[in-house]
Amino acid sequence: MPTDKSADKTVFDRRESEVRSYCRGIDRVFTRAVGSEMTDASGRSYIDFLAGCSSLNYGHNDPDMKEALVEHIAGDGVAHGLDLHTDVKAGFLEAFERHILKPRDMDHKVMFTGPTGANAVEAAMKIARKVTGRTNIIAFTNGFHGVTLGALAATANSYHRGGAGTTLEGVTRMPFDRYMGEGFDTADLLEAMLNDKSGGIDAPAAILLETVQGEGGLNAARPEWVRRVAELAKQHGALLIVDDIQAGCGRSGTFFSFEEMGVSPDVITMAKSVSGFGLPMALTLVRPEHDIFGPAEHNGTFRGNTHAFVTARVAIEKFWADDAFQKEIAAKADILTRALEDVAGLVPGSRLKGRGMMQGVDVGSGELAEEICSRAFDKGLIIETSGPEDEVVKVLAPLTTPEDMFRKGLNILLDAARDVTASTKVAAE
Ligand SMILES: Cc1ncc(COP(=O)(O)O)c(C=O)c1O
Repeated sequence: MPTDKSADKTVFDRRESEVRSYCRGIDRVFTRAVGSEMTDASGRSYIDFLAGCSSLNYGHNDPDMKEALVEHIAGDGVAHGLDLHTDVKAGFLEAFERHILKPRDMDHKVMFTGPTGANAVEAAMKIARKVTGRTNIIAFTNGFHGVTLGALAATANSYHRGGAGTTLEGVTRMPFDRYMGEGFDTADLLEAMLNDKSGGIDAPAAILLETVQGEGGLNAARPEWVRRVAELAKQHGALLIVDDIQAGCGRSGTFFSFEEMGVSPDVITMAKSVSGFGLPMALTLVRPEHDIFGPAEHNGTFRGNTHAFVTARVAIEKFWADDAFQKEIAAKADILTRALEDVAGLVPGSRLKGRGMMQGVDVGSGELAEEICSRAFDKGLIIETSGPEDEVVKVLAPLTTPEDMFRKGLNILLDAARDVTASTKVAAE
């Protein structure tokens, strides 16, 4: 029996909606979180390789962000300001302009949408439609863009789509890079269909893609595929929207996931780690010529989470003022690849997926992936799956995880995979 009242979980079963999900596999009551560790009500610590599904790229309770936030609150700084001008919003915009946009030669305007990723995607899709006067948006197999109706139309997963309860319209689905396997360039198909007057694709307002599909199973598009898709968008008068909600903020290795691909998207969506502290905040970045919504045409009460602006500014200044952090991510990504090769070596037919600090192993079945994650959790590691059948064991460790802890977590994962594969082998014999 739990000794601490806060460890009593019965209220969740009694009152919380059945829609809850992560807590089913990770069935503890958490009370504290620092850096890359979470502690439950019994005092047990876990290494966190889920990181709020990439909304905690800088770990839990970063001390500098926390200090700035506590100071802001203690000084009666504005907590919520609709979209009024506030000192801290100015501070965020200046830092974002100085350290992110200008060095990358980006003249995009920053639109503060409602604070979820889905809302940033809704805004992006609406902008593309308004700019072009067209309705059709091309999205890809295994894409995940959120579950509000507009974004859900672009999301591929049938389980999520099934929750809509209505028709999902205005999107044409095309195969993502390597969806048809190696040796079939799906950009050829897209090109052929777009160029054919009887190809059946209505003139697109936008082509919407993730460069690494986070929820869809860590499918990393090849840069040359992304470039071709970007060219096709241009040729056909469509906007290129990159959904960087999961792959952005350093997760794929650079601040924007497309930075080293030679493309310049018209619209970019960001959320998850943009506040740096796990606070709700989302952005839609728009080229100035496409920034055509009238005042409040796409609005929302919670576009002024000033607490998030405070921490987001610190995150940008602390981690992105030079390239040191990016180099650190690259070194950790190499460690990750090598460790995952060891995990993959235990599971015949498995393969590595993803890039940067969003990598995983496709172990071939959702059951096996789930077993490995659940064994890892017993051993003190929080880790989840992704992919259409949840067949990918997915590492989303905070990018700031100290190397020794990172290796410790990866060793737990390897041990868990070893235990599970050994017991599966025994059962088969
Ligand atoms: C690429 C991508 N786009 C959009 C979303 C939706 O974001 P939110 O859950 O904040 O609505 C997600 C969430 O996982 C995502 O990974």
